[in-house]
This record gives sequence, structure tokens and C-alpha cells, in this order.
Amino acid sequence: MDPIEQRRGRATGAEKGLGRRLVQLVLPHLWPAEPGLRAMVVLAAIAMVAGKLVTVATPFALKGVVDALAPSDGAPVAAIPLAFLLAYGAARLGGTLFNELRDTIFARVAERAGRRVALRTYEHLFALSLRWHLERRTGELARAISRGVQAVGFMLHTALFTMGPVLLELGLVLGILLWRYPPSFAFVTLATVAVYAAFTIATTEWRTKFRREMNEKDNEFSAQAVDGLLNYEIVKAFGNEAFEARRLDRALQGYEDASVKAQASLSFLNAGQAAIIAVGVTVVMTLAARGVVAGELTVGDVVLVNAFLLQLYMPLNFLGVLYRELRQSLTDLELVGGLLELEPEIRDAPDARPLLLRGGEVRFEDVSFAYDPRRPILERVSFTIPAGRKVAIVGASGGGKSTIVRLLFRFFDPTSGRITIDGQDIRSVTQASLRAAIGLVPQDTVLFNDTIAANIGYARPGASRAEIEAAAKVAQIHDFVASLPAGYETVVGERGLKLSGGEKQRVAIARVVLKNPPILVLDEATSALDSLTELQLQAALRDAARGRTTLVIAHRLSTVVDADEILVLEAGRIVERGSHDELLARGGLYRALWTRQHEKVRAEEAEPAAV
Ligand SMILES: Nc1ncnc2c1ncn2[C@@H]1O[C@H](COP(=O)(O)OP(=O)(O)OP(=O)(O)O)[C@@H](O)[C@H]1O
Ligand SMILES: [Mg+2]
Repeated sequence: MDPIEQRRGRATGAEKGLGRRLVQLVLPHLWPAEPGLRAMVVLAAIAMVAGKLVTVATPFALKGVVDALAPSDGAPVAAIPLAFLLAYGAARLGGTLFNELRDTIFARVAERAGRRVALRTYEHLFALSLRWHLERRTGELARAISRGVQAVGFMLHTALFTMGPVLLELGLVLGILLWRYPPSFAFVTLATVAVYAAFTIATTEWRTKFRREMNEKDNEFSAQAVDGLLNYEIVKAFGNEAFEARRLDRALQGYEDASVKAQASLSFLNAGQAAIIAVGVTVVMTLAARGVVAGELTVGDVVLVNAFLLQLYMPLNFLGVLYRELRQSLTDLELVGGLLELEPEIRDAPDARPLLLRGGEVRFEDVSFAYDPRRPILERVSFTIPAGRKVAIVGASGGGKSTIVRLLFRFFDPTSGRITIDGQDIRSVTQASLRAAIGLVPQDTVLFNDTIAANIGYARPGASRAEIEAAAKVAQIHDFVASLPAGYETVVGERGLKLSGGEKQRVAIARVVLKNPPILVLDEATSALDSLTELQLQAALRDAARGRTTLVIAHRLSTVVDADEILVLEAGRIVERGSHDELLARGGLYRALWTRQHEKVRAEEAEPAAV
């Protein structure tokens, strides 16, 4: 089951985990370690308070203007109230300026926080085990990271720097109303806000399910699309474009339906909010008008109260969005937080030391392994590759050969038994030093969508062009690369799809030659090559392998005749072992395989046209 799906299933716990997630992912960024960023937080907070004070002062300037123009004693107006007018203009401008200043300064803090979280998540994903990665859906994962980043930014920016000021303003306005006007003013204002908030939250709560449905369909769509596009060749080869399109359209249709419901419910929410505010403003204005009629208040007071309320309610318009985004952010934070909390299955032991190499003897001792406990893959596999020697593993497909390689790299730990290099259990050394010691030409070479030079140079970032070319020569791909119009700068396409299988394999070999590791693992390294190229490359590989501990996995037995020991693996067990000659003499499985392959080769030679 998809781990993200599992997480989402538990998203109802989002609120419960809120405190934990805030502490884990958001709050630390409010008080960053760098003094520069910290100063920005302080400045932004000052700008926020200043902005609110100015905003609250604005209606007073307006009242000043109105009262000067319409004196309650009905006296003629002598001059324009220039001071009040200027104050009003300055206050209006000031409020906006302070807000923009706050947002500008704080943007750096919020963005930096998002960057940190993204990086931390990405790094953590690499710490998670291969087992986990084999089950994930890449598209969803990338989405999860970017949504997590947005969520952190949102929590910092909007939740704190929008909600905070609104509450501050509400407090100030209520205080002023209580101070200058009958208590009914403050009461109605507060009641309006309360009804408004309650209505908004309840309605938003109800419509959250449409949003969630939308998100799910959206995820489904992107996972589906990425999966389909990644398998472009297969889709086309099987003529399944229509099938893929139908599958995608199901997700799209779900999205469409959910979207329509979301929009309709949003309109309901907006209309309801507007109605509540309209009622509130009308009641307060009526109270104020009554005050004017009774001679207790001036026209300026009516204007002031009106300005206050509109100013106060305007940001409340966002309350629904805010609340919903807050919920969404909590879910997203939960997702990212959950990812960050996943324990890597393979971890360095607390006292792990770097691998100490003394020649590179590799030893498997009674190693058993199962990906799934119900289905054992390797059973008590034991062998030793003495330092600098070469051991080959042959056997039927699915026998567990590549699994042995994964265990050697410690992508998985054996269920029982142990693997040592120069006498050190690989579980006791650091993974970094272990993997630095081993070079792998994998069975399926996948390349980065980058230049050939970059793909070869990946083995050792910083390698010079001369070193890269030297490695390419050993791997016998230099001439081919030189013949390309863009040479080493040729971009290989996503996952290397623009190169042939054999070319990819040779890039992978060049990569390992450049890495120059003491231990070399070739998993069907030349399987994609024709016999002639393979023969030439075998010679080169033999050169490259000289003096290194080498593990070769091959289907074509002719490529392993020179191994010091050959292991025949069948269904996870070593059933025969010995040198080529010994195994032939024994007349067992190996001999049968050998004879069969030779007959095939002879048949191909007799009938070249059949190839
Ligand atoms: N991640 C996994 N989860 C479950 N089973 C797996 C996983 N990876 C491989 N297997 C199973 O383990 C068995 C051994 O796989 P492995 O890749 O080691 O075979 P192999 O000997 O390298 O075969 P081939 O010659 O075809 O490359 C196979 O039956 C395969 O289906
Ligand atoms: Mg394999």
C-alpha cells in the first residue's frame, strides 16, 4: 500500500498532532538561528504593530474631517480642515505601507523556512530504505514536498501575520468603542464577528470534504499522468493510449465533480458572510444614527463607526479561506511531518566506523533473505571472494542474483547470517564508506537527464574532462560519443532513453571506471551488447577488474569462464560451485547450461541470417 495513502487515511489526527507539527516544522523558523533573519522577524513584527495602530487611527482623522465640515451647532464652515485631511491621507497610505513593509521583510523568513523544510524532507527521503522507495509513487511524493513547503510558509505568514493583526485590530476597535460609545456598539460588533466566525467555520468544515475530494482526485491525476508518461514506450507499444486516457479521465472527472461542488458551496459561504456583515453594520449604524438624532453623537461619529466596522470586517472576508487553508496546511504538515518521522530501515549503527579496507575480501556467511517474510529469496548463501579475486554467480532469472548485490550494498539487511568486508560486518560500518568502496554496473542502467559527461562524471563530482574521457575510452564508448554532433555535451533524455541499451551500459561502465573502487560488481554488465562488442568490452573490463575484488553476474557463461570461482544459484540456493573446468567435469547443472548455450551459439554461427 502506498505509504502516503496510509498517511492520508490518518489525516483525521491532524488536529491532534498540531502542536507537535508546529513545534517540529513551523515555530523554530519564527526565531531562526541566524541573527540577520532574527532581526527581520523583529522588524516585521514592529511593522505589523505600527501598521495596525495607523489603521485604527485612520477613522479618527475621517471623523475630524466630517465634524469640521458639518459642525453639530450648524455654524457655517469657514475653512477646509486641511490638517485632518492630510492626516487622513497620511494614515491611509501609512497603513498600507507598513503592511507591505511587513510582508516584504517577512517574505525572506517564510521562504527560507520553506526551503529548509523542503531540503530536510528531500534529504530524509534518501535516508529511507529502498524497500520504502519501491512502494512509493514519485509524482505524489514531489507533490507532498511542495505542499509541505507551502504549508509551512502559510502557517508562518498568513496564520501569524494575518490572523495576529486581525485579532489585534479587533481588540483595539472594541476598546475604542467601549471607551467612546454606549456598550451596545461594542456588543453588536463583537456579536457580529462571533456569528460570522461561527458560520464561516461551520460552513467551511462542511465543505472541506469537497476540497479533500478535489485534492485526492488531483493527486490521483498527477500520479496517473506521471506513471503513464514515464512508461510512454510501453503504452505505445501495447497500443494502450486510449486505455491510459480513460484511466486518466476517470480521475479528471472526479476532479471536475468535486470542483463544481466546491465552487457552489463557496458561493453559499460568501453569500452568508455578506448577509451577516450587512446585518451587523446596519444595526450599529442605526444605533449611531439614533445617537445623532438624540444629539449625543455627531455625524462624524456615524462615519467613524462605519469606517471602523468596514475596516474590521474586510479582513474577516478571508477568514473562511484562512480557516480552510489552515486545515489544509495542517493536513500537509502532517504528511511532511509523518514522512520526516518515518524511521529509515537501514541506519548506521550508533558506533559505526568507516570501513577499513585491506584488499577488499568479501564474505557472505549463511546469508538468508526475504523481501516478504512469506517468500524466502536467499537461503543460507555462503561464499568468499578473496581480495583481488573474481567470483561469478550464474543461474536462472529470479534466482536472487541481483538481490545478493543489494545486500552487499546494504540496501537491505539479511534476515539471518552476515556479510563482511575484510572481516568487518557491513552493518557495523558507515553506509557512506561501504558504498564508496563498491562500484556497481547495474542490470538496468538508468541515467540522469543530463549530458553524457555529467552522467559519467557522476561517479566523482569534480572529475576533469580528461579523466572522464579516459574512463570512456576504457568503457569503449569514447569513439561513439566523439561521433555525436554534441559529443560529451549530448543530453541523454529522461532516464537515458535517448541512448541504446548497450550505450547506456557502457556509460555505466565508464562511470564505475571513473569511480575506481576496490570492489567491483558487474550485474549483467554486458548483457545488452552484441557478442562482438561484448568480447571487446570483456577484455577491457578484465583490465579494469585487475587487482580488484570482483563479483560478476552473468547469463552468458562465456563471460565468466575465467572467474576464480563460479557459483550456480538456483531458487536462492547455491547448488554448485567451483572453477569452470571443475564444474564442466562434474556434469551437473552448470554443464547442462553450458552445453545448451554452446549449441545455441553454434546454431547462430551456422545460420547468421536468423539473428
Ligand atoms: N523489492 C522486492 N520485493 C519483493 N520481491 C522482490 C523484490 N525485488 C525482487 N524480488 C523478487 O526476488 C526474486 C529475486 O530477484 P533478483 O532480482 O535477485 O533475481 P535475479 O537472479 O537477479 O534475476 P535476473 O537474472 O532476472 O536479473 C525475484 O523472484 C523477484 O521477484
Ligand atoms: Mg538480476
